[in-house]
Amino acid sequence: MTDKYAVFGNPIAQSKSPFIHGDFAEQTEQTISYQAMYAEVDEFPATLAAFWAEGGLGANVTAPFKQQAYELCDELSQLAQLAGAVNTLQRLEDGRVRGDNTDGVGLVTDLQHHFGALQNKRVLLVGAGGAARGCIKPLLDAGVILTVCNRTHVKAQSLAEQFKQFGQVDACPIDELDTAFDIVINSTSAGLAGEIIALPTNIISSYTDCYDMTYSQQQTVFNQWASKQGANRVVDGLGMLVGQAAQSFYIWRNVKPNQEVTMTKLRLQLARG
Ligand code: ATR
Repeated sequence: MTDKYAVFGNPIAQSKSPFIHGDFAEQTEQTISYQAMYAEVDEFPATLAAFWAEGGLGANVTAPFKQQAYELCDELSQLAQLAGAVNTLQRLEDGRVRGDNTDGVGLVTDLQHHFGALQNKRVLLVGAGGAARGCIKPLLDAGVILTVCNRTHVKAQSLAEQFKQFGQVDACPIDELDTAFDIVINSTSAGLAGEIIALPTNIISSYTDCYDMTYSQQQTVFNQWASKQGANRVVDGLGMLVGQAAQSFYIWRNVKPNQEVTMTKLRLQLARG
């Protein structure tokens, strides 16, 4: 029987994960199936249970089920525990399910790829929701000096408080940001809703590299704004998507695919629409 994998979400038709994992499998000569699985909002546990019963070996989980997936695991990696969310499920040999969160590793790998070593870089993380939470430990592990800011400041404060045991992190109210950063990362969902985050322009200098965790066919709203402020380089989150997938694939198959090869194909697909 072919080894079965899937991604669960709602909506899910737009997911690029089946293409990405299909390409990884081809590259590494693994025989697997990987399907997009739609689950009704209140039926995720039952849909997932049916998948395990049919012999599923692993799954990715995307919005809106990452927190629920976290609740359903028998065992959690440290990153999943800290994120409070799971994007990668693995059925262990004894039938128990282990949850991991590979989003942060995907982000850090892509940041290093584009911007080089992160050690001692002054990084501003905009947003304090689920996407931000999943990335803070991997960023601190890479040695950045992190500032978190958020529309709702108390959420940034509580993240900084929770993660300060792992490295240098503080929170700053948006209207008190008064210096330029080496890297500015957007983790908010504002752009997806067509909204612009109100950020002071002095956070961007000619050496500032910007990264938007989201991506779209055209340049993202945040990256358009950053370019207009004279940012050095602006990069969208397509590489993070491929990076988190590569880390999931590694967890399941113990082999690392070439992310660049997949990325090139995906970028072409996105441009075609
Ligand atoms: P996700 O899991 O994608 O991070 P989330 O947990 O709902 O989603 O968090 C969304 C993030 O985007 C939050 O940081 C949110 O700010 P608030 O905590 O103040 O709600 C941020 N966000 C969404 N829309 C925004 C907007 N128009 N301007 C600024 N921040 C916005």
